[in-house]
Amino acid sequence: MKLFIAGHNGMVGGALVRRFHAESGLQLVLKTRRELDLTNQAAVAAFLAAEKPDAVIMAAAKVGGIFANSTYPAEFLHDNLAIAANTIHGAYAAGVKRFLFLGSSCIYPKLAPQPMPESCLLTGPLEPTNEAYAIAKIAGLKLCEYYRKQHGVCYHSAMPTNLYGPGDNYHLQNSHVMPALIRKFHEAKLAGRAEVTAWGTGAPKREFLHVDELADACAFLLKMANPPDLVNIGTGTDVTIKELTEIVAAVVGFKGRIVWDATKPDGTPRKLMDVSRLTALGWQARIGVREGVEKTYAGFLTELAAGTLRG
Ligand SMILES: NC(=O)c1ccc[n+]([C@@H]2O[C@H](COP(=O)([O-])OP(=O)(O)OC[C@H]3O[C@@H](n4cnc5c(N)ncnc54)[C@H](OP(=O)(O)O)[C@@H]3O)[C@@H](O)[C@H]2O)c1
Repeated sequence: MKLFIAGHNGMVGGALVRRFHAESGLQLVLKTRRELDLTNQAAVAAFLAAEKPDAVIMAAAKVGGIFANSTYPAEFLHDNLAIAANTIHGAYAAGVKRFLFLGSSCIYPKLAPQPMPESCLLTGPLEPTNEAYAIAKIAGLKLCEYYRKQHGVCYHSAMPTNLYGPGDNYHLQNSHVMPALIRKFHEAKLAGRAEVTAWGTGAPKREFLHVDELADACAFLLKMANPPDLVNIGTGTDVTIKELTEIVAAVVGFKGRIVWDATKPDGTPRKLMDVSRLTALGWQARIGVREGVEKTYAGFLTELAAGTLRG
């Protein structure tokens, strides 16, 4: 069986390669962005027609933080729509029977009930700062749903919660909360600082899934004969930013004080996936936050020493 993992150089794509590498009888098809720009419709169609993979996992996307998303919404909408349309239609035209499309929890309305069930999709306005990205991802998941409904191909989608792990982006301004904290406390420890200032009150609650577990959940969904059109992938539990910060400080070995700057914005009070659909199917996350941070900090040190750290 031939599996095309789109976006294999990214954090999610890298985890998928590690996960599927171990499967016997599976041939991975991988292309860098330079070899195959997924926004190029003709190139994608020609590649899929020639390669004829049995299955595709879509882990490529133009991704970015709040600043990039709100400054370049035209690119975020256009590129991600093009990536989704080219690969989904190209796969269908090439006779690909299976397609797993990955999105993110930002597809759900800004004021979605917590935890957020799959059924809250398209029930209210999106968070304005990442609306362009979210609309492209909603279009992608709907394309999968409609190709499946109209043409009988097994194209389906999964929406992961906040991810972390090997290959994460540790850029000081553009990174997500977990890698940002790891880098901040690591540098404070090395500099022998007495205190670290953290943003906000620490009260907001967030959910974190180790990226290797996401890859395992994808493998689980791909083996199902009749998966749901849309499934949330998360742990179903959350921690406060204060708890997360204290865990990271302890794992990194920072001995100083943590000071909370409550003049900085907290953001949404809570963002948690409802994972009951995935749990009912038989998959559950196993890596807790403490264990995940330990694994990730070890990986951070390895990537730093090897000169491969992103950001
Ligand atoms: N990270 C998270 O916390 C998180 C959470 C939920 C969902 N997700 C979802 O998971 C997916 C992957 O995210 P990620 O965190 O792995 O992002 P990432 O590390 O930035 O990886 C994205 C990959 O897509 C590739 N790519 C972008 N544009 C392309 C194009 N035009 N043609 C070919 N390849 C292209 C990038 O190639 P280059 O390396 O050349 O740029 C990169 O390898 C996204 O759909 C995202 O929404 C991520």
